[in-house]
Amino acid sequence: MVVYSIINQKGGTGKTTTAINLGAALNRRAKNVLLIDLDAQGNLSYSLGINDFDQSMADALLGECTINDILQERESLTVAPSDNQLADTELSLARSEGQEKALANLVKSLSGFDYILIDCPPSLSMLTINALLASDRVIIPMQMEVLSLQGLDQIVQTIEKVKKTFSKKITIDGVLPVMVDKRRKLSQEVKEYIQNNYDLRIFDSLIRSNVKASEAPSFGKSVINYKPTSNSAVDYMRFADEVLELNR
Ligand SMILES: Nc1ncnc2c1ncn2[C@@H]1O[C@H](COP(=O)(O)OP(=O)(O)O)[C@@H](O)[C@H]1O
Ligand SMILES: [Mg+2]
Repeated sequence: MVVYSIINQKGGTGKTTTAINLGAALNRRAKNVLLIDLDAQGNLSYSLGINDFDQSMADALLGECTINDILQERESLTVAPSDNQLADTELSLARSEGQEKALANLVKSLSGFDYILIDCPPSLSMLTINALLASDRVIIPMQMEVLSLQGLDQIVQTIEKVKKTFSKKITIDGVLPVMVDKRRKLSQEVKEYIQNNYDLRIFDSLIRSNVKASEAPSFGKSVINYKPTSNSAVDYMRFADEVLELNR
């Protein structure tokens, strides 16, 4: 069982899209995948048509139910959903001692999954620390734009700090370029900047900008299922193969 955090503290950087479609693509490669929605916006849950639930990650994190109690199946993926109740839960967790490992403990109670992907919130918060402490590895989806670079320092520093403070082994697999517009030269410059200034790999795979990726959520589907021949479905399949290769 490999646990990944899909992380970037900026909003709109393709975290949720990546969690869903990497998950769906790994599933196509016969892997058993659990998606954990750890964002109070509940975009991941909603994008897979999950909006009817009594209990969610908010309850599981507070110990009011088990994580198994809240799991739902979609497209042969398993989902641990969230909604805005998670914002209150985050406050409760932040107020009490030692709650950084609440998610790690829930994850430890699970079995039968090959991959667990955690869709992180757009902040470096208590929930993000929980996600990191539950994870073996990290993927940073990023638009290859100058403004995205601002946040990169912070993510890397946060991960380093969590690793050190909790003596936790976390591997940053790398930066995944998303919403890439090949016609723009800037992408290449940003890529070079990262390569020259950080000890971070940039995945060979990249996810092209493609309207199908943004349409799929309104049908409650992954793009892998909604339009399997679209650029974004093809790109996420290729990315999944790269991730599988890294974990061999
Ligand atoms: N490859 C892509 N091509 C086009 N639009 C995309 C792509 N990936 C994501 N989007 C869209 O960009 C927006 C932000 O993506 P999202 O995955 O929700 O980011 P985050 O979870 O980091 O906030 C969404 O509207 C999504 O549909
Ligand atoms: Mg999101």
